[in-house]
Amino acid sequence: MKLLQRLRGGLKRRLIPAARPVVAAPVLTPESATAETIDLSDPVVALDPFPFYEALRPAGPVQWLPRNGAWIVLGHGAVKEAFARPEDFSNAPYQGVDPVLLGADPPRQALIRRLVSRHFTPDALERLEATGARTAAALLGPEMDAVGGFSLPVSRAVAAELIGFDRATVDELVEATNAAAHGADPLAGLVSTLHGFAPRAAVFRQLLKDGEGLIGEAEAHSLVALLWLASTTTTERVIARGVLRLVQHSDVREKVGGDPALLSPFIEEVMRLHPPEHLVPRLTTAETELAGTTIPGGAVVHLCLGAANRDPELYVDAASLRLDRAYRRHFAFGGGIHHCVGAPLARRVVAVSLGALLRHSARPRLLGGPRDIAWFASMTALSPSRLDIAL
Ligand code: HEM
Repeated sequence: MKLLQRLRGGLKRRLIPAARPVVAAPVLTPESATAETIDLSDPVVALDPFPFYEALRPAGPVQWLPRNGAWIVLGHGAVKEAFARPEDFSNAPYQGVDPVLLGADPPRQALIRRLVSRHFTPDALERLEATGARTAAALLGPEMDAVGGFSLPVSRAVAAELIGFDRATVDELVEATNAAAHGADPLAGLVSTLHGFAPRAAVFRQLLKDGEGLIGEAEAHSLVALLWLASTTTTERVIARGVLRLVQHSDVREKVGGDPALLSPFIEEVMRLHPPEHLVPRLTTAETELAGTTIPGGAVVHLCLGAANRDPELYVDAASLRLDRAYRRHFAFGGGIHHCVGAPLARRVVAVSLGALLRHSARPRLLGGPRDIAWFASMTALSPSRLDIAL
């Protein structure tokens, strides 16, 4: 009896607060979204940002988003201009990732970039492409998770070879970075974990040797960490997106599968429509003007590659994947002085991976339905994290 009373009391106590009217936060929709109401970090936006970018576009290429305390640049021309003016739009927001190259500004950035570029010779690209092709071919099975069982191990194998991590180090590193990703500050944990592994990399010793007088050990740690971070998730996401497009659009798959010359335009379209990082940050160095809008100094500005790559002023039928596009250039690899130094490598690795898959199977298909795809969604990235397919 006492137990029953206690239970009833507990139930009553729990019911009282719930009996008060609950004012639920309105769900953001593209129809209702404006620069004032949108929050780019809202999960609803993160899971499908493109209709929201289109909702903002008519109000102009540069807008202030009070909920994010930042500016967004949506237009292709305005993004291009911001990339071309590093003296006004600094890469400082990346300093937590890497202050040496990606987070650096001119003139030092150019010196460091020259040092890093030495690792992307034509011979190195040939060798790394072969590693990607070999790894991809070995992973193809009758059924697989196209992310964990394909795009992720291919991009890691290529990054490991470029950086000069042996197999055992990669296994250890993956375990340590997975653990760091669950910590209180995942990015800081990831970066410091990678710094710890850097001295084991062949590229670390080479950077120190070539960069004598220019960089010390701390900078070399950071560059090795950057090479791993910048090359793995990005390449992984493009391969996964490519696979998803192939399994979801049989017309495109038949065309690309039947004509290897269409693989390159296909990949460029996949990257245009789904840049692995669709927002890249800048910080204004002083009050400045962009596309007719005045932005104060010290402001965070998100260059929206996802929106610029779908600007209807430049691309006809901008949201569709078209293999016959006359203008195919895009900003998935960024622009200006920080334009991705690994772009030629990434293009080759994605091509050999998707090429191997298409040669292996004429009809790759999704296992289950679209709801069975798991997603990684953040303010800056949206990509499958599990994609089960049959080949
Ligand atoms: C499809 C795959 C890739 C995409 C879409 C991509 C995208 C990008 C973007 C957008 C930037 C510029 C960021 C900014 O300006 O804010 C960048 C920079 C960079 N990327 Fe990539 N990346 C890819 C693959 C790679 C690979 C494979 C490597 C190295 C092996 C790499 C290394 C770098 C480095 C070192 C930078 C900094 C360059 C600088 O600051 O001068 N990336 N990447």
